[in-house]
Amino acid sequence: MALGDTLFPDSDRLDDWFPRDMLDAGSGLMMAGQRLGVVVGGSLSRGLDVKLDRETVIEDLAVGRYVVVRGSRKRFFCMITDITLDTTNPAIRSDPPDLSDPFLREIYAGTAAFGTIHVAPMLTIDEDEGEPRPVKTIPSHFMPVEIATAEDVNDVFGREDPTHFNVGAPLELEQTQVNLDLRRLVERSVGVFGKSGTGKSFLTRILLAGIIKNKIAANLIFDMHNDYGWAVKDEHGTQAKGLKQLFPGDIAIFTLDDEATRRRGARADHVVTISYRDIQPEDLAMLKTTLDLSDSMIDAAYELQKKWRDGWIKRLIDAEPEDMDALKDELTSNMASVQALQRRVRRFERFDFLQPDAIEDSAKKILEFIERGQSVVLEFGRYGNALEAYILVANYLTRRIHSMYVEQVEKALGDESAEPRQLLITIEEAHKFLDPSIARQTIFGTIARELRKYNVTLLIVDQRPSGIDEEVMSQIGTRVTALLDNERDIAAVLTGISGAGGLREVLARLDTKQQAIIMGHAVPMPVVVKTRTYDTEFYAAVSGEFSSDGGSSARGGIKTEADRARDRDSRRLR
Ligand SMILES: Nc1ncnc2c1ncn2[C@@H]1O[C@H](COP(=O)(O)OP(=O)(O)O)[C@@H](O)[C@H]1O
Ligand SMILES: [Mg+2]
Repeated sequence: MALGDTLFPDSDRLDDWFPRDMLDAGSGLMMAGQRLGVVVGGSLSRGLDVKLDRETVIEDLAVGRYVVVRGSRKRFFCMITDITLDTTNPAIRSDPPDLSDPFLREIYAGTAAFGTIHVAPMLTIDEDEGEPRPVKTIPSHFMPVEIATAEDVNDVFGREDPTHFNVGAPLELEQTQVNLDLRRLVERSVGVFGKSGTGKSFLTRILLAGIIKNKIAANLIFDMHNDYGWAVKDEHGTQAKGLKQLFPGDIAIFTLDDEATRRRGARADHVVTISYRDIQPEDLAMLKTTLDLSDSMIDAAYELQKKWRDGWIKRLIDAEPEDMDALKDELTSNMASVQALQRRVRRFERFDFLQPDAIEDSAKKILEFIERGQSVVLEFGRYGNALEAYILVANYLTRRIHSMYVEQVEKALGDESAEPRQLLITIEEAHKFLDPSIARQTIFGTIARELRKYNVTLLIVDQRPSGIDEEVMSQIGTRVTALLDNERDIAAVLTGISGAGGLREVLARLDTKQQAIIMGHAVPMPVVVKTRTYDTEFYAAVSGEFSSDGGSSARGGIKTEADRARDRDSRRLR
């Protein structure tokens, strides 16, 4: 029943004046712009207390929801961080009124007994300036608190345009959308975190689709579980489209396992082989935890390489016991370590992509595609289950590509038009690459730490962020976090985020799927989103025909003047 119908009923029935269904009218009443209550207390550091109006259905409010306090000259954007029941009269706690009497219930509800919410102010927009700013003050008493409207959300996150991509709706504001600033997203490294099965891979695919569609950066995706390239199976066995199907002209599929790629109905643009001679001791250092290598084994690797040069690893694998005996006098390394190292590197023999002589230089090949503005998905096929293969290959290729980037950037001598295009490298199981014992030596640690100096950033996907080196974590510009339930993981993703206290409650209460908090560099304030559903509607929206972005998606990787202008803008932000 609409509220207006009951304003002046010509009736002497109490029920007409105080309709019984008003309090349980349900979420139908919760709409954008709807008033929830008024500010009654709080502070800048602790957040604001809001007394809910009598009509507000407390059960429909959820932590993480996005509300706006309309002050006299400013709008304050806040997130609900707690919900409480309160009373004016302490006696009510010990002696609750008899609620079997509907009349009494109506009187108490919302007056003597009421709900309050605690909200954390995160941003303000001054009505004169129109620009979102950090909060340095709070609204005064009794300012109205409302559910954010689409316009409020757009004022903060930006409208959908060639650099802003719709990633989902703010929590319980289904009719609005959060448009993520993709330029800022790729400008620093990005982390997508969450327990297994929370939708990390789906969400990552959505982010990548936005980046590819709007030509924000080239991508190199180390696709461990065949989640990105071609036909992706979801939990229920139905197939979702891979990036190559959405952007056939913009994606090249590379594979380590041609057979597996064919079996899935895709055709690889390039089959990757790596020569034994290309593997350096530093690539092994990355495998320290995975292969259970000791420091002395790694030292032995360096020594062997010095002695045997490029052929060291193959020679070590092939070495017979007599050869090992002969080595005894020539090496300073302890022979037990050399033998242990040999046993471990012999596992590489199972990897058919490792060959005495690679057919082609795969790192160069990847770079060729990237220079043309295409993105490369590297499928691991059956090697996806061998963590050591994943780490070895990702590390080797990234090391090579990064050094080519460094060379190109340095050769450009500050001339931005001669610099290589922005490259975003996606890795899954990131903590295996970035755990504190190796993050210092590895190329991924280096990339995360050097920010965007060489136009390379990382998109790391991980379910155990507490396993990632703290210093690397602090360099992750934008963190996208689905549900985490381990205390240490929650603490890890929240370090260095202001207002983290309130977010902890929100983070621990996300839905188990398709919900995430986005915080950091790409968003002006943390926001909880219900991730866009990856379905036919999404395919249509990104694959061009139904594009609403005003023609930004010029195909073929050719930059327009507008693209270049944006590049210059975003570089200035560095
Ligand atoms: N945005 C989304 N659109 C459609 N389905 C989703 C979405 N997010 C998650 N899902 C569902 O949840 C399942 C798990 O998601 P997935 O990305 O594989 O999780 P994770 O990588 O975190 O283990 C998917 O198989 C899919 O059914
Ligand atoms: Mg996954």
